[in-house]
Amino acid sequence: MTKSLRERLQGKPPVAPADAPVPPTRPAAGVSSVPGTPTGDGYGGGASGMFGPRKGGDASALSPVDELRRSLHRKLIDRLDLEALEALTDEKQIASQIRQAVAELLRGETTPLSQTEREDLVEQVVYEVIGLGPIEPLFRDRTVSDILVNGPRDIYVERAGRLQRVPAQFRDETHLLSVIDRIVSRVGRRVDESSPMVDARLPDGSRVNAIIPPLAVDAPILSIRRFGTELGASRLVELGALTEDMLYLLAGCVKAKLNIVVSGGTGSGKTTLLNALSSFIPATERVITIEDAAELRLQQNHVVRLETRPPNSEGRGEVMTRDLVKNALRMRPDRIIVGEVRSAEAIDMLQAMNTGHEGSLTTVHANSPRDALSRLETMMLFSGTNLPDRAMREQIASALDVIVQVSRMSDGTRRIVSVTEVMGIDGEIVQLQEIFLFRKLGLTVGGRVSGEFEATGVRPRFADRLVLAGIEVPGRLFFGAK
Ligand SMILES: Nc1ncnc2c1ncn2[C@@H]1O[C@H](COP(=O)(O)OP(=O)(O)OP(=O)(O)O)[C@@H](O)[C@H]1O
Ligand SMILES: [Mg+2]
Repeated sequence: MTKSLRERLQGKPPVAPADAPVPPTRPAAGVSSVPGTPTGDGYGGGASGMFGPRKGGDASALSPVDELRRSLHRKLIDRLDLEALEALTDEKQIASQIRQAVAELLRGETTPLSQTEREDLVEQVVYEVIGLGPIEPLFRDRTVSDILVNGPRDIYVERAGRLQRVPAQFRDETHLLSVIDRIVSRVGRRVDESSPMVDARLPDGSRVNAIIPPLAVDAPILSIRRFGTELGASRLVELGALTEDMLYLLAGCVKAKLNIVVSGGTGSGKTTLLNALSSFIPATERVITIEDAAELRLQQNHVVRLETRPPNSEGRGEVMTRDLVKNALRMRPDRIIVGEVRSAEAIDMLQAMNTGHEGSLTTVHANSPRDALSRLETMMLFSGTNLPDRAMREQIASALDVIVQVSRMSDGTRRIVSVTEVMGIDGEIVQLQEIFLFRKLGLTVGGRVSGEFEATGVRPRFADRLVLAGIEVPGRLFFGAK
């Protein structure tokens, strides 16, 4: 249900299907829906969008530039040949047509504008029509990793691991909803009262989540999380996420086809590390990746990427990770990489690991290696298995070789805080032994986390498997502080 260009230009709210009510758009307190303020031109309400926060709540007090932007927008609709524009599928062409029209319109304006202001204005109208509106510049800024929109006026970004509030604003909830709608409709999804939550992936790989009222209590919420996977293994060492020695060992584990789980909290760098580790998979192997939103960027040629599918509006057609894991097993994989195990697929994944599909990699949301084990156990239960506890633990213990715990520290840095070997099971308890850890020493004056990586002095049992695979494992890796 893509909106027409005319509707987009007119700033219409998302079109709800005939049988569903229009999404509720509660006005933000004291700002939008000022009586008598035209809103149909897309600039009503007069909020300054990208021009930064507007002082006070008086919608009629527009700055000359805002005023100009608003009138431009209206004139643009009259002037552009919308039908011809709509026929263009290439957004670059649409942008250039709009740019031209805006430039022409501006020539007739009397408000004095500097060259930069003029360029800004052109950019903004273009963003407005085909882009993400006020958050487009944030989206283009490669230093921004996450964009978090908490309602029209509260926008945060994460840069270098730190969250900060930015002055960009949407005009009102309708404006925000129309941008959300534009984003999700482009990837064939929709958001309205009947499906108030959407999780999608943008063409550049970023992940988008939108949740609107009434599920989001105060306002529509949009979270854009950029790809966490552009950091390669050596870059992670440079960033201090792990040491050369740790990387050497982990790379060896991947090459020797050990089964590895990366465990960590939200945004702790699990996917990034998984992607970095995958670079050590030999190019001769056939790799199948399974993800909810295809984020991984494997370097190898022989990679088959599978992605789950949510149910359609009638609740049908869902394809779950579990289905894909089962299917992948029939595709003669050398390795299976599951982006994240969250649910019943854990049992299929572990079974696969135990039945000759070694070298599997996955991530799990957990706070410690031990927690990762209990999460996996709980997830196995989701499959409806009636295996006794001990049998489940045996499966886990025999499937997994290594758990790598990652953590997002208080200063925004991500580190591997533990590399742990899964030894086997003793009685009811899965035996773990730590090989490397990060010892946190404290905070510097600037709030940065200080600490050091340590080898615990234990030579992992799996070292022999590395040696068998032809990988040298010098004893010095495991001794002393690094
Ligand atoms: N070692 C690192 N140093 C700095 N930034 C990092 C590091 N690892 C990951 N990041 C950044 O942290 C963000 C989150 O990374 P990533 O997506 O890998 O985390 P995740 O644990 O998989 O998150 P999720 O819980 O959403 O799956 C990304 O922006 C990524 O670029
Ligand atoms: Mg992830």
